[in-house]
Amino acid sequence: MSATISLIFIGVAVLFIIGIKFLSSPKTARIGNLVAAAGMLIALFALHTPDGISVWTAGWTLNYTLITIGIVIGLVIGAIGAYSVKMTAMPQMVALFNGLGGGAAALVASLEFLRGVQGRNTVTAFITVPMLFATLIGSLSFSGSIIAYLKLQGKFEKPITFPGQNILNGFILLLILALCGWLAFNATIPVAATGFIVMFSLALFFGIAMVMPIGGADMPVVISLLNSFTGLAVAADGFAINNTAMVVAGTLVGSSGTLLTLLMCKAMNRPVTNVLFGAFGSAGGSKAVAGAVAGTVKPVQADEAALLLAYAQRVVVVPGYGMAVAQAQHQVRELSDELGKHGVEVQFAIHPVAGRMPGHMNVLLAEANVPYDQLVEMDQINPSMDRVDVCLVIGANDVVNPAAREEKSSPIYGMPIIEADRCKSTIVMKRSMAAGFAGIENHLFYKDNTRMLFGDAKNSLQALITAVKEN
Ligand code: TAP
Repeated sequence: MSATISLIFIGVAVLFIIGIKFLSSPKTARIGNLVAAAGMLIALFALHTPDGISVWTAGWTLNYTLITIGIVIGLVIGAIGAYSVKMTAMPQMVALFNGLGGGAAALVASLEFLRGVQGRNTVTAFITVPMLFATLIGSLSFSGSIIAYLKLQGKFEKPITFPGQNILNGFILLLILALCGWLAFNATIPVAATGFIVMFSLALFFGIAMVMPIGGADMPVVISLLNSFTGLAVAADGFAINNTAMVVAGTLVGSSGTLLTLLMCKAMNRPVTNVLFGAFGSAGGSKAVAGAVAGTVKPVQADEAALLLAYAQRVVVVPGYGMAVAQAQHQVRELSDELGKHGVEVQFAIHPVAGRMPGHMNVLLAEANVPYDQLVEMDQINPSMDRVDVCLVIGANDVVNPAAREEKSSPIYGMPIIEADRCKSTIVMKRSMAAGFAGIENHLFYKDNTRMLFGDAKNSLQALITAVKEN
């Protein structure tokens, strides 16, 4: 590789890193995406043949045409997808795009491997191992992501489990690894091709078998994990075909996907192994049965709740999955504006795993143009919760459940929560006394200073807006 191309690839790597840095805040996320995309475009122009000649000038007409067709198809599908997808269907779209990335990485590695074993003399295990790794990880990420997509679409949402499932899955994985080991050191055409196809098919099957026992609501964590797998597959491809941009981009995706997975698990206080093998949501899984709670439930009507809100100095809104279900983000914004006109300070407390996907609440509130500076993270807002006049919990349940702090036997014990129970008064908006994702009772609903505003969040918010306007 020439020094110029090396320098270009270093520049590309820097753009990827800056892009990821910008993605860490909603304010700069758009520009972050553009910066990383610009890096990828530059990497495409810097593509070169194994002899270091740019594919754009090497007379490889076929490659030139194919690359251009690939870029155009990708742009069209990406743009149509991004413009037409509903906010609530974002996790499915991420699953699909991730799966396609994994599949593409697996195909690149497969072609390189099969081409490599034909000219066996020149290919060392040092090169075949990354190719096999990319094929294995990329293909299981592909099939696993498709299952994750289908689960998020509501098809076989429940975990599908049977006795001995983990042992069977472990056996398949061992078989795949044994085949990879054999292929890396011993295979020659045509036996290698057959062995390779068996390994590829088993890896696809393993992706399905790995995701089937996991409940639909855990899919965001699974997608994030599969996303990190795709990144690693792309990085391994980069090693195999000597492409620095792929190594850097793949490693960044791999490490950020792993970090996101760990952060989500930490915020739910569940180890990754519990997400992967715990079958959360199945009859035999770790869901708790709702128990009896001391205290009484005190319902409130919208006009009474509006009075409390309009005469408060400081209101903290805690949005949760129910706000997403009701698609009430625009009404939330309208209520916040209306309270602002009454001189009330309104903040939004964001729990890292509120809703069902990373950043779920941030995305919805951004869609409704809630100013970023009103959004406060859980760790920042908790210390001042006892100085909040009214905490308005909108369709959130587990993320405000004091059992996480108070009940050692609770399945969510130890999970960090937004401490709504410490506010001077709390209004909880939901349709019934039904449990949230974790399937457990919420003691917050029975506390002396809690009032329950029952109904669909959108309708209740509309009633609140009207009542606040009248005050
Ligand atoms: P949940 O605990 O799931 O509670 C949501 C509540 O919203 C329900 O109790 C439900 O009560 C209410 N609701 C549903 N539809 C409504 C509507 N139309 N109007 C008003 N209320 C409605 O939600 P949360 O507090 O956001 O917690 C998230 C949970 O998901 C956590 O346990 C978390 O660990 C888990 N999880 C999160 C993620 C990510 S990445 N965010 C990933 C996997 C799992 P009613 O039926 O009575 O209305």
